[in-house]
Amino acid sequence: METFLIKGGTALNGVVKIPTAKNALLPILACSIMCDGVVVINDCSRYTDVNYMVKILTELGAKCSFENDCLIIDSSCADKFFISEEYTKKVRSSIFMLGPLIARFKHAKVAYPGGCNIGTRPIDLHIKGLQSLNVKIEEKHGYIFCDATNILSGEVHLDFPSVGATENIIMASVFSKGTTTIYNAAKEPEIEDLQNFINAMGGKVCGAGTSTITIEGVKKLHGITYTPISDRIITGTYLIACAAASGKVCLTNTNPNHNTALISKLKQSGCKIQIKNDKITLEATHRLKSISKIETLPYPGFPTDLQSQILTLQTISKGTSVIIENLFETRFKIYTELTKMGADIIIKDRMALINGVKALYGANVTAPDLRSGAGLIIAGICAEGYTTINDIYHIDRGYLKIENDLNLLGADIKRLS
Ligand code: EPZ
Repeated sequence: METFLIKGGTALNGVVKIPTAKNALLPILACSIMCDGVVVINDCSRYTDVNYMVKILTELGAKCSFENDCLIIDSSCADKFFISEEYTKKVRSSIFMLGPLIARFKHAKVAYPGGCNIGTRPIDLHIKGLQSLNVKIEEKHGYIFCDATNILSGEVHLDFPSVGATENIIMASVFSKGTTTIYNAAKEPEIEDLQNFINAMGGKVCGAGTSTITIEGVKKLHGITYTPISDRIITGTYLIACAAASGKVCLTNTNPNHNTALISKLKQSGCKIQIKNDKITLEATHRLKSISKIETLPYPGFPTDLQSQILTLQTISKGTSVIIENLFETRFKIYTELTKMGADIIIKDRMALINGVKALYGANVTAPDLRSGAGLIIAGICAEGYTTINDIYHIDRGYLKIENDLNLLGADIKRLS
């Protein structure tokens, strides 16, 4: 198993380009099974989660190949709607194969999804949403069986603005006769990107980015070449890393509008931030002030996927911070590892109370999941001495050789087998 060995105490300076977004790529890859032409995805970042989705598409009969950074998908020969648990267990995103399989084959049989162990990760909103469109669903022996022979268009009211459920219902409705409306839809930028992808193939989706999305049924989707949006969580991770380590970093190929909640918090803490077109430059020259309160919320609120990273920053800031995690019930797993590095954190249910300390010290820690793994890297860069991070396979699910980018900025991270 690979580990990271990090020598702490280095500032971060320089320029890094942000890759395309994991959470945009995954639904776009799922959706490509609905296309009767060839889909070419430019700058397709090969996160391990993306590699698993390619394996799922291949299992369904699609032809997938990489040419440099482009992924070429020809789903014309896809002829299966059954996904075994071999791959579904590895990724959460397998759940939003339901919508595309229902749209194309009117049937789906998908094993329960996997994904980060950050909570129970229920799928009731997906199921109830599809059932309200007359999809017959049975759950047995760890599989979800869908019969959409008589799928209807209509209205779907989500009890919670779930990203995955919104994406699934959009895709399931693309070929339905009539118009489907989703109320209380999630507003994440990745949903807008999915809308743009579907419409570029001839679909008729509108309203993504707002809480009401309509999908007008079309007969088919034709092939296209598409470039997904950049990864706002990698952008946020690198901004927080520079804020914690001090230095001056310029991130290119970003969409600053996708990180407004984080940028506001980092300015509060004393960072200097400049925005110009697709570039965000952050400068931190001293120990930052604690951010008194951070609460994770659906977009455009503070993203839960940056909670572990900003928590790490608070452990070495000046003062006390309270972080409330509203999305996932067990997303504070990083705290045990940070405590080994000298952090002063108290956890009570969904609340973390952090007393900033002057410095963390290096230790042997283990990444519990993807984003807390990224938080531990930030801790290692700032800590005195050496830090070893185990189970870094979690981190590779959502970052592309993260050590290369951070070493380019001045970090000292070695990937050891
Ligand atoms: C997506 O997960 C992202 N994953 C997650 O990113 C992200 O944390 C999450 O959205 C929230 O922004 C992908 O896009 C692949 P949800 P998803 O459905 O769709 C509850 C990362 O690190 N819920 O919006 O699974 C759920 O328990 C990953 O890149 C139900 O109750 O998230 C949670 O409390 C981690 N029933 C809340 O909704 C359901 O049927 C938000 O979940 C579905 C969700």
